[in-house]
Amino acid sequence: MNPTLSEAGLDALALVREELDQVEAALRDGATAGSAAVDAIGRHLQQSGGKRVRAAMVLLTGRLTGCPAPTRIRLAAIVEMIHAATLIHDDVIDEAPTRRGQPSANARWGNQRSVLAGDWLYMQSFRLALEERHFGVLDALISLTQAMVEGELLQLEMQGRVVAPAEHLDLMERKTARLFAVGAQLAPLAAGRPEAECQRLERFGRHLGLAFQMVDDLLDFTASEAVLGKPVGGDLREGKMTLPAIYAYQAAPAADRRRFEQVLEDRGYVSVPWPAVQSLVQASGALERARRESREQADRALAAMLEFPPSPWRDALARLPELVVARSH
Ligand code: IPE
Ligand code: IPE
Ligand code: MG
Ligand code: MG
Repeated sequence: MNPTLSEAGLDALALVREELDQVEAALRDGATAGSAAVDAIGRHLQQSGGKRVRAAMVLLTGRLTGCPAPTRIRLAAIVEMIHAATLIHDDVIDEAPTRRGQPSANARWGNQRSVLAGDWLYMQSFRLALEERHFGVLDALISLTQAMVEGELLQLEMQGRVVAPAEHLDLMERKTARLFAVGAQLAPLAAGRPEAECQRLERFGRHLGLAFQMVDDLLDFTASEAVLGKPVGGDLREGKMTLPAIYAYQAAPAADRRRFEQVLEDRGYVSVPWPAVQSLVQASGALERARRESREQADRALAAMLEFPPSPWRDALARLPELVVARSH
């Protein structure tokens, strides 16, 4: 009944394909620093791709709310730039070896240069935002960036221990959903749309972002590294309990719980191999439960979008939740 991923994807993205190219150009022009290392890191990440799902969402919400083209393109570039900066820092923190199918910036240039390149990109995104001359937009971006940093700090605090579902939800909200939520309301904010409309889009973005992170956490258990472009099994290895692991842990008898705790303690699949963890999670029904919850979040995002009157933009945005839950990488 639902369109296939590629059909829906093509449809939803075709509307903003040309503008996505302009976002790429803005990212290219915008990431030219006075330092060869920063330039190289920025270029490396940009050229290795990325799904640009946040940029597409910003462009479409811009079309939906009558935000002028130069502004919505700039806002989409800002959001992707902030995303890129957080990925660079996240990979330093997680000691991740790969990203977007390539060696991560930290693997290639080391932690020191990567941290500085991430800082530079954050500032560059604010410089771009300044061009809008809009305090509301700046305010939203500053709160967003601080919330994301707080999310990473919270994650460090939660690392290596068993966490409750509510704690994990709070973390997902800060580290991922906030960027979608703010990204979805930037264009109407800049266009001076009514508060209620901004809030509806904020709700759409937040649920879309939660669904997105839940699927990212699921893919960490179910995908292959070749498809994902980043390591699988990484979350538990990094000491992070995500929903599949949390639910499997809750359902497990004491002996199996001990195996999860062992992985967290060992910081890796040392005494408990990865396939054994995968089987435990698989057999517990935790994957289905987590997938159901990601669908619920996607449904909430869809419901928020359907409060808008029909238009090609609304219909393309209304397909994003389905795309997010059906994605393979
Ligand atoms: C990765 O985001 C970080 C998460 C919030 C899970 P994406 O999966 O959107 O990364 P790219 O931009 O497509 O590489
Ligand atoms: C993503 O969390 C949060 C960010 C803000 C980057 P993850 O740690 O799950 O992201 P990946 O899996 O490394 O892309
Ligand atoms: Mg990570
Ligand atoms: Mg992840």
